[in-house]
Amino acid sequence: MDDALVTVGDDGRIAQVQPAPPACPLPETRPGCVLMPGFVDTHVHFPQTRILGSASGPLLPWLERSVFPEEARFADRAYAEAVAEQFCAALARWGTTAASIYSSSHPGATDVLFAALDRWGLRAQVGLTLMNQGAPEALLLDTGPAMEASEALIERWHGAGRLRFCVTPRFALSCTPELLRAAARLAERHALPVQTHLSENLDELDATARAFPGHRDYLAVYEAHGLVGPRSLFAHCIHLSDGEWGRMADADVAVAHCPDSNFFLGSGCMPLAPAVARGLRVGLGTDVGAGRAFSLRRVVASAYDAALVLRQPVSAEDLLWRATRGGALALDPEARFGCVAPGYDADLIAISMPEGLSGVALLDALAFRRDDGPVAAVWLQGRLLKT
Ligand code: GUN
Ligand code: FE
Repeated sequence: MDDALVTVGDDGRIAQVQPAPPACPLPETRPGCVLMPGFVDTHVHFPQTRILGSASGPLLPWLERSVFPEEARFADRAYAEAVAEQFCAALARWGTTAASIYSSSHPGATDVLFAALDRWGLRAQVGLTLMNQGAPEALLLDTGPAMEASEALIERWHGAGRLRFCVTPRFALSCTPELLRAAARLAERHALPVQTHLSENLDELDATARAFPGHRDYLAVYEAHGLVGPRSLFAHCIHLSDGEWGRMADADVAVAHCPDSNFFLGSGCMPLAPAVARGLRVGLGTDVGAGRAFSLRRVVASAYDAALVLRQPVSAEDLLWRATRGGALALDPEARFGCVAPGYDADLIAISMPEGLSGVALLDALAFRRDDGPVAAVWLQGRLLKT
């Protein structure tokens, strides 16, 4: 691939991309590296940073044994502060420059997370994770206080710097109908994005059908409570019927495909190709801590494996696009990030690559050769991040 010169404007956006002149007089070069847009993680859990790799799946026992006890610790603001720093550093280290994040159910921890992301200069949408049933008492926040806390967080952080507030009911099982409806009203009132989990695990499907009788399928539960629309982002989407996929396409929702998590929890393989064929916006998510790494390159490789298992292969090029620009569009159809082109945010990463690769071989290496560890450099809005 040819060398290029990327010029960044004072506004932190890319001003120009042109062929590099032979003796390029420039502030920064990265020999041996590929320069590409920063990764977009469309689904990641901040309070699961320290339980990454806990092999206690499948989903429901894993939530009880590994997740809920850890998330309860985020009632402590000092603990949340320490992990927020570690979380932002992990995103940056692995080249993620934008993310859709679940906080814990604690307003204090969520405030701390927003502040850390703002300090780091990362782009993010963040949700206070809404849950008022089906978990230990220490994690539950009822509808009234949850809405009050959300309003305060919106006031403080929504639209501040590169941050947005995202309405985040954990999943149907952790919310009463009243909380689901209140969440939908909150999103409507402020035109906010919405994220939740959908159809991840067969036991979860059974439990959801029992907890919400009278709905024809899992998606119908969210539809009935006003949570399905073009600002909605659904994670996993493994066990959906054709009817559900059709309604999702009609509603123009987005999907967070989390294959590494899906393998680790034995949840199944999401049918990526049919979702894309229906015109759905599909990004990739680590789903840390069920995902085993903060690296979107790892997720790209797992997505490749999942597609092969389903005998619907997909290219490294397609998946690297989903890990960047495709993810940006899943978060926001109007997004001006996730792409190295004039007018886009200068959120860039450099990945070191063996000499002499080009074309498909280079894209395959970017996706599948990951022995090198973290990225070589990260720029946020054109500023080199010191790590
Ligand atoms: N469903 C409800 N909560 C969670 C979670 O924290 N992680 C995953 N993977 N699925 C969920
Ligand atoms: Fe998740």
